[in-house]
Amino acid sequence: MEEAPLEAGALVAGRYRVEAPLGEGGMARIYRATDTHLDRPVALKVMRLVAAAHAARFEREARAAAGLRHPSVVRVFDFGVLDDGRPYLVLEFIEGRTLHQVITEEGPLGGRAALDLLRPIVGALAEVHAAGVIHRDLKPENLMLQPAPGLTALVRLLDFGIAAVDPLSTDERLTRTGAVFGTPAFMSPEQALGKGVTPASDVWAVGATLQCLVTGAPPFAADSPPEILVEVIRSAPAPLPDDVPGAVRGLIELCLQKDPAARPADGAALLARWPTAPRPVPPPVGVCPAGRRRPRAARRRRTTRRPSARRAARRSWPRPRWRRPWRRPPRR
Ligand SMILES: Nc1ncnc2c1ncn2[C@@H]1O[C@H](COP(=O)(O)OP(=O)(O)O)[C@@H](O)[C@H]1O
Ligand SMILES: [Mg+2]
Repeated sequence: MEEAPLEAGALVAGRYRVEAPLGEGGMARIYRATDTHLDRPVALKVMRLVAAAHAARFEREARAAAGLRHPSVVRVFDFGVLDDGRPYLVLEFIEGRTLHQVITEEGPLGGRAALDLLRPIVGALAEVHAAGVIHRDLKPENLMLQPAPGLTALVRLLDFGIAAVDPLSTDERLTRTGAVFGTPAFMSPEQALGKGVTPASDVWAVGATLQCLVTGAPPFAADSPPEILVEVIRSAPAPLPDDVPGAVRGLIELCLQKDPAARPADGAALLARWPTAPRPVPPPVGVCPAGRRRPRAARRRRTTRRPSARRAARRSWPRPRWRRPWRRPPRR
């Protein structure tokens, strides 16, 4: 039986006032709400079906996510059960769009941008895995791009709804209809086969997400979810266009190894392989930033050594040589 959606204005737990629906996933409806005690916006995630197994999983989501401190992981504020038995989570409200919406509306991202956006998520996974949690449903729809003035874009990891706290736990792997949990297009072969998932399964999902961000489509596609699962298990991923940079190509290939043992073992191992952003190259010695002249003393000084590129790079910017305290040479 389908439960009625919460009405705008409804007060949950005498504290959270429902404002408007935000989204719907397979397991839950998400509402924008206001925490009337603290007068701040929150996201209220209410489970759809009341079933003991689902409720237990939902509670596990609360505990899994609440224990994490990484700034890219969405904060969990509260957990409770509605009068009709439906469990709910109160989450930090993220003002923004999912990466799925971003690429649908604006087209695929460039390779460098995709690497930079996903880097903190790989860092978050390192923490998630260190805490003994496996996300199991990493995909562009579960990543939100949050505008943050003064910062480069902030990406937040959502939805620990099917996270496995115990890597060997297989109790909730199959639904009543026999479907495997997760999203087929981003699911690792071991997950698709119903074998136990490991942190390397999240590493696969990072590769699938990276490919989706740079090409606009996940690496495996077919007409129906079961056919996608067959593709994931048997076929090679969709080839990448020629203009995808080598670093991105290499990472995608590394993450999409069918054998989990051939992938980086977890978030920390993947982070170690993730390319860092190129650092800005400091200007060579004696070259003034645009619009500024060297001080008079420095202008008069004769350059005896030609600045080598390596020496210039070692010198810390913004303190080029000509700004160091200059001492007048002793009079003869
Ligand atoms: N904390 C949040 N802030 C803002 N929007 C959210 C938040 N959590 C979820 N949403 C929206 O709701 C959608 C589904 O949420 P999600 O947690 O992924 O649910 P499901 O487990 O049903 O997939 C997301 O794609 C996003 O658009
Ligand atoms: Mg989701």
